[in-house]
Amino acid sequence: MTAPLLEVQELKKHFPAARGVVRAVDGISFAIAPGETLGLVGESGCGKTTTGRLVVRLIEPTSGTVRLDGADLFTLDRAGLRAARRSCQFIFQDPFGSLNPRMTVADIIAEPLEIAGTPTEARRQRVHELLEVVGLTPAHAARHPHEFSGGQRQRIGIARALALRP
Ligand SMILES: Nc1ncnc2c1ncn2[C@@H]1O[C@H](COP(=O)(O)OP(=O)(O)OP(=O)(O)O)[C@@H](O)[C@H]1O
Ligand SMILES: [Mg+2]
Repeated sequence: MTAPLLEVQELKKHFPAARGVVRAVDGISFAIAPGETLGLVGESGCGKTTTGRLVVRLIEPTSGTVRLDGADLFTLDRAGLRAARRSCQFIFQDPFGSLNPRMTVADIIAEPLEIAGTPTEARRQRVHELLEVVGLTPAHAARHPHEFSGGQRQRIGIARALALRP
């Protein structure tokens, strides 16, 4: 058996609440092998999104571990965390709240590439390629998020997440 690419053990996230705590995630464990896909299914509010946010370290856990390619995500040094951030991308649940309304689609998708230091012309080409990958067209690049349907906006978020080939 191949070593897991992602390994989650006894992960917990408890949020403080008016009375006591909300046990949003309370001891989840799973492993994902390279090339494997995991779907997490459950009723609304059962902790799926919180699990996802923990796994990319958008939030810190109450306890438990996440190992990405063998390295403990919560004790990585700056350089290690930077590399991990490139290799794991998050597609936000709400495509209306997660795209900056003032930015063009091209700028939204190109932002991770810009941060990674990709030159202008290579960025432009990659944005067009990504638009096609998600079923949009390069003609959409100059438009703003409000000009798209919810499903199209979600695909803009997917294109952005794929930009750095996570
Ligand atoms: N930042 C937060 N502060 C306090 N409680 C939170 C926070 N984020 C999530 N919760 C609570 O944690 C629980 C799990 O929320 P989560 O968003 O992970 O659910 P979900 O499984 O993704 O639900 P859905 O299917 O509706 O998207 C819920 O009870 C929610 O109210
Ligand atoms: Mg959710």
